[in-house]
Amino acid sequence: MCGIVGYIGGKNCVPILINGLKRLEYRGYDSAGIGIINNSHSDVIKNKGKVSLLEEKIDNLNLFANLGIGHTRWATHGLPNEVNAHPHFNTSKNLFVIHNGIIENYQTLRAGLKKLGYKFITETDSEVIPHLIDSFLTKGNSLFKSVQLALQEIEGTYGLVIIYDKEPDKLIAARKGSPLVLGIGEHENFVASDVSAILAYTKQIVYLEDGELVEVYRDKFVAKTIADKEIQKEVHEISMTLEEIDKAGYDHFMLKEIMGQPESVCNSMRGRIVLDKGTSKLGGLEGVVEKLAAAKRIIISACGTSWHAGLVGEYMFEQFARIPTEVEYASEFRYRNPVINKDDVIFFISQSGETADTLAALREAKIRGASVFGICNVVGSSIARESQAGVYIHAGPEIGVASTKAFTSQLIVLALITLLIARRKDMSLVDGKKIAEEMQKLPDKIAQILKLNDEIEKIAEAFKDSKNFLYLGRGYNFPVALEGALKMKEISYIHAEGYPAAEMKHGPIALIDENMPIVFIAPKDSTYEKILSNIEEIKARKGIIIAVASDSDNEIDKLVDYTIKIPDTIRMLMPILTVIPLQLLAYHIAVKKGLNVDQPRNLAKSVTVE
Ligand code: M6R
Repeated sequence: MCGIVGYIGGKNCVPILINGLKRLEYRGYDSAGIGIINNSHSDVIKNKGKVSLLEEKIDNLNLFANLGIGHTRWATHGLPNEVNAHPHFNTSKNLFVIHNGIIENYQTLRAGLKKLGYKFITETDSEVIPHLIDSFLTKGNSLFKSVQLALQEIEGTYGLVIIYDKEPDKLIAARKGSPLVLGIGEHENFVASDVSAILAYTKQIVYLEDGELVEVYRDKFVAKTIADKEIQKEVHEISMTLEEIDKAGYDHFMLKEIMGQPESVCNSMRGRIVLDKGTSKLGGLEGVVEKLAAAKRIIISACGTSWHAGLVGEYMFEQFARIPTEVEYASEFRYRNPVINKDDVIFFISQSGETADTLAALREAKIRGASVFGICNVVGSSIARESQAGVYIHAGPEIGVASTKAFTSQLIVLALITLLIARRKDMSLVDGKKIAEEMQKLPDKIAQILKLNDEIEKIAEAFKDSKNFLYLGRGYNFPVALEGALKMKEISYIHAEGYPAAEMKHGPIALIDENMPIVFIAPKDSTYEKILSNIEEIKARKGIIIAVASDSDNEIDKLVDYTIKIPDTIRMLMPILTVIPLQLLAYHIAVKKGLNVDQPRNLAKSVTVE
């Protein structure tokens, strides 16, 4: 969840670290710090709050160093304050460490180190690391060896970078459970928790695997396992561009990403629809299509928005591929004792590809012999690499903490997989073609919905002071109700619940009064008449209704307080359209409340801790 960046080379590392931290701020933003080493001066500068505050503090110091590390924090152990911010250091303040992850046995290690005379000044688990390394250095070990020995004692997860003023020609990086990449430059090298931090300087990337540590010099790097086995690492050229990770004139990344959905949805489909055969072509699943078509059961496991996408996938797979499908929170899946049969296939959906719970669920499923397939956005991410097969959603970098374009692209990929399997089974050519044609029309329809932005902003004005929201939908649009509610709570801090519309009368109806806004997702599909009855039930109790309805629907306006009219498509694809107004509604309410839309409180983009 925290952001990590490190530099060694001939340039001043300070601006490089600050720029990197700004790029990484979406991963954690409660405090930030840098540690630098040069011949005459080693220092750690930290600050509570955002990177811009750290930058202000640093601006007056005139710092120069060729070796440095930077960190932006998302607190797990200890308050978000200056003392607890990273880098942490040893007593002599000449060994600096930044850490992403959780040291599970930190209390035991801390007690042991205290007995050796080490003094602790923070409340963090991470502070044991510099002292532990120091305890090996004082026995005459090199920095690399000391880190290796320390890691043998540490239980938990880490992405770690360490620098030491007695060995200023290198930095050491290690990974277990928290992503870390090396960036290879000309007489300079970089380390980062994700490539966006170093993309301005290099596109040559080495992905570290769990259990690996690497000694990075300005002209070379040496990778080894914790058990000291040397390993050869491949250098990958990545295609991501800087424009993709800029705001491009928008006020917020979230708005840019919502508005970019005609393009991102198009990119997710590009070259993958085989229109004349009414099917799809997915390179990443080529070798496993038969296995998929023969599956007796599909399990989809994910967290948050990706889990909501999985729920839509369940409706698609069961309706068209006729394969029983279960969707499970990754955090639950990994800790219960799931029954996995040899004919089951499991999809793990994750935008970041680094979500700790999803990754752990994937590993658990693998141990049990399941076929594990990934649906990820971030190329080269852990889930993508550890899956046996999979599909990238190609939505482009998603920086806003609230997931938007990843959701619609995940649904596109799930629809493509549905076509692939269903056409191998009993879906007719005519039906396959119809779905494929409708998919191709989606970018234009999304663009049409985005033109309602001003209208939706006005609705947001009317509801910005609401204390609660209820979202109701049926069938394919029930997961959209969940997703709409999640968007509202995470960026607007307004309590919001999503329910299947018919469930309302089994409890939530008690909440309805003249102060309760209810968002109905009510396109004209086979559940429409039922939805109208639910709307009547709410009206009878004076609830205020905002309906997301079909363009062609002239009846609904008479029943509800506000309507957002959108184009129709076939039922299975409707969530890709109905979710867009809900993203915009949450966005505008958050902006009107003066909240930080891209970095909502307590959240981080990529949840790499349990
Ligand atoms: O990267 P992932 O898709 O695995 O992330 C899963 C959730 O953490 C994520 O969707 C989260 O719920 C978002 N903040 C939702 O907007």
